[in-house]
Amino acid sequence: MNAKVNIGISEKNLSGIITILQNTLADEHVIYIKTRNYHWNIKGPSFLEIHRLLEEEYEVLVETIDQIAERIKKLGGRANGTMKEFIDSTRLLEGPYHDHQTEQVKQLLSDHEALIRSLREDIAKCDKEFEDAVTTDFLTGVMAKHENIAWMLRSYLG
Ligand SMILES: [Fe+2]
Repeated sequence: MNAKVNIGISEKNLSGIITILQNTLADEHVIYIKTRNYHWNIKGPSFLEIHRLLEEEYEVLVETIDQIAERIKKLGGRANGTMKEFIDSTRLLEGPYHDHQTEQVKQLLSDHEALIRSLREDIAKCDKEFEDAVTTDFLTGVMAKHENIAWMLRSYLG
């Protein structure tokens, strides 16, 4: 039997929050795969530094991904877990693949910034419309992590 989540958030609102979390989970996966791709395939003058930076970044993303999936479970949802589901629900583009360092860093930065913009709207909804203080707080923390990564990447672009 499936025990219902009874924490003072309506079913309709729970479902709205879960949709936001599934979209974010998918976006994180797209950025994670792209970050690993460029960790492997980065080339150019700052190869080793960016190679290491991207490793640090995908480790942060892995942790974030797990926390988002577990937040979905805490709200009674089933966390998406297939590549197909991630591709279907992401708000980012999977490609295109870039072969030059500046383009690679620019693309990662642009994805992090796009996710930050989506999260800003998601957070406002979770707060004002769905009245879920914990998800509002949680996603604010996620957004702060992306702002930090965006700063690091932006600094390579002069
Ligand atoms: Fe590696």
